[in-house]
Amino acid sequence: MLETERLIIRPINEMDFKDICQYGCDEETGQYMIYWPKSKEQIKVFINDCITSMGSEYPTWYEYVMQLKSTLKVIGNITLEIKKLEAEIGWISNKKYWNNGYMSEAVNRVISFAFNDLSMCKIMATCTDKNIASYKVMEKCNMKRISEENNHKSIRQGIEVTYNKLTYCISRK
Ligand SMILES: CC(C)(COP(=O)(O)OP(=O)(O)OC[C@H]1O[C@@H](n2cnc3c(N)ncnc32)[C@H](O)[C@@H]1OP(=O)(O)O)[C@@H](O)C(=O)NCCC(=O)NCCS
Repeated sequence: MLETERLIIRPINEMDFKDICQYGCDEETGQYMIYWPKSKEQIKVFINDCITSMGSEYPTWYEYVMQLKSTLKVIGNITLEIKKLEAEIGWISNKKYWNNGYMSEAVNRVISFAFNDLSMCKIMATCTDKNIASYKVMEKCNMKRISEENNHKSIRQGIEVTYNKLTYCISRK
């Protein structure tokens, strides 16, 4: 378990289902994401997959939730995908709690965990240039923009989408 001033950050578990559905099923919240929103059924499968991955000897996928210390409500998820000595980080949170600095607070802590406890050398994050809140989180966590790729193509829910992709990075000091 990781901690910040206002948050507990811990591995996801089955009990988080209800809180995650509150933001994970929301169309607006997932509008800039490839794998969200999800149906309740998909969230159930997702949580089970996360638990299986984190239970393996060398996990390549860590899924954390951030929980308010004050109420214990789960208000967001942070994903770390491990690729040898590099990790890709991603996030999503409940829109009732946006713009209070919660995600930056959590991501800063997860980045230090990835460097210090998982021995990662580099952490990357990507988003569309329309997702200002997301790249603000990257900037508030001292990540630097390393590339901008216009008209990047990806598949979202079976449909090809095109967006301007920003990539940010932070290296271990
Ligand atoms: C991205 C997300 C996790 C941010 O969570 P959050 O807890 O609101 O993040 P923080 O409060 O730590 O930081 C957000 C920053 O963006 C700023 N911001 C948000 N919208 C903005 C806008 N339209 N213009 C300028 N700044 C904006 C906020 O003011 C804040 O900066 P500040 O603290 O300097 O004022 C949340 O918006 C979210 O879940 N979005 C939907 C899912 C998603 O898109 N995930 C990322 C996919 S790449």
